[in-house]
Amino acid sequence: MPSLRSLLTLSRRGVFSLPAFAAMPALADNPAAQHPDPPPPDPASFHFPRDFAFGVSSSAYQIEGAVHADGRGTSIWDEFCHDPCRTSDGKNADIADDHYHRFAEDVDLIGDTDLRHYRFSIGWPRLFPEGGGKPNPKGFAFYDRLLDKLLAKGVTPWMTLYHWDLPQALQEKGGWTNRDTAYRLADYAAAAARAYGDRVSNWLVMNETAVHAYIGHGLGYHAPGLTGVDNWFSALHHLNLGQGLAIQALRASGAKGRVGTVAACEPVIPSSPAAQDVLAAQTLDAAWNGGVLQPLFEGTYPDLIAQYTAPHVRTGDKALMAQPVDMLGINYYSRLYIEHNPARPLNLFFGPNKHPSPYYAGGWPIEPDGMYEILTSIQNRYKPREMFISENGYATGTPDASGVPLDDVSRISYITQHLHFLRKAMDAGVNMKGYFVWSLLDGFEWNDGMKWHFGLVTVDPVTLKRMPKRSYHWYGAVARAHENASIQV
Ligand code: FCB
Repeated sequence: MPSLRSLLTLSRRGVFSLPAFAAMPALADNPAAQHPDPPPPDPASFHFPRDFAFGVSSSAYQIEGAVHADGRGTSIWDEFCHDPCRTSDGKNADIADDHYHRFAEDVDLIGDTDLRHYRFSIGWPRLFPEGGGKPNPKGFAFYDRLLDKLLAKGVTPWMTLYHWDLPQALQEKGGWTNRDTAYRLADYAAAAARAYGDRVSNWLVMNETAVHAYIGHGLGYHAPGLTGVDNWFSALHHLNLGQGLAIQALRASGAKGRVGTVAACEPVIPSSPAAQDVLAAQTLDAAWNGGVLQPLFEGTYPDLIAQYTAPHVRTGDKALMAQPVDMLGINYYSRLYIEHNPARPLNLFFGPNKHPSPYYAGGWPIEPDGMYEILTSIQNRYKPREMFISENGYATGTPDASGVPLDDVSRISYITQHLHFLRKAMDAGVNMKGYFVWSLLDGFEWNDGMKWHFGLVTVDPVTLKRMPKRSYHWYGAVARAHENASIQV
């Protein structure tokens, strides 16, 4: 039996909850608590340039609930959570945080703690229940209300178009394995730009295409639950193509905001120096980091994966994928540890981490220096105009008998460490313009249901009452001190 630590390291995006690990003993609420956290630093002790944005991130499916309200269509995640439910705790997102009905209170929470930037996604199945064709006016009206409330509260919207909730109607035609879906995304982007272009200053087309392609279409642990190399790379290419087409559509619509996208980028490390583990890690790096950034910035695929995308690439696609972006959002959580595994697509899978890292719930290592590593390497290779951390966050597990962990010093310590390495990257010449904590609220965490609590604010699962944690107040104070500082360097 491998040690608990080595099994923990197999986790990424809920892979920990695979059936093979189901018999594991429950984790302590916070494994990192074995390493005592220092007292929270003075919120005024962070120094970032004046135009640096402090914000919070969320996504539609993870918080909205109201899946049957006002004509919303079904998404691939609704399918994944029902008949049978494939989340590890058996929970679905039918209610989630009921943000759909409580958005005003949630926006007040953001503004009241002086956070001035909010990244959220709009739900494609709310706007187009069938994926395209007839729009759903009540769905459009919801995001009108949300945007108006944000602006009235002085919060800048960063609107993501696609955070994994594909309309099921499009999945029935092949979803991202069907080239046509890329064109449907562009139509949806144009419609969003027409509806919201007067109020959205920051557009983000995708969230984590690499994760959606690999975990959802290669491994099958996320919706739509497809597996195999061909589905993986067909989805990856069509997502990259759709991203390029949607960027073009946003620009053609005349929407006034800046246009960018969000990628999950993390250093990929072999679990051992053995040649086959090294090759496995290089291959995943090519699919995870290079497979998204290289098409966007250079119009090509990395050599190690080009043979898998080739059957799906048509003449002209390279130019379509390589669209200029005003900014690039990076989601960073931890390094990925990869080993050779002949039972998995491309003979690779998550493996043990030999570093003596602390861990947090969900089995993710805390490795803030990995953020510095990935940001400097992206800057050196691709030279994006500007970047920001679009997600970074800390989870606790199911509250223990002592109740909801509102005194979350470990989360404050996690954010502090990451801000330190982000600043270090800036000092090394990386053009970083913001940092967004994942997440405002504890919410639905994909195939792990409601198990992991990433929020600055917890939500009572029965009453849905919002309860701010210590980190909410502290992080707000960081943002406030930043806004108020007269000299920022
Ligand atoms: C990222 C997802 C986000 C959230 C965090 C914890 O991969 O983009 O929706 O679930 O992980």
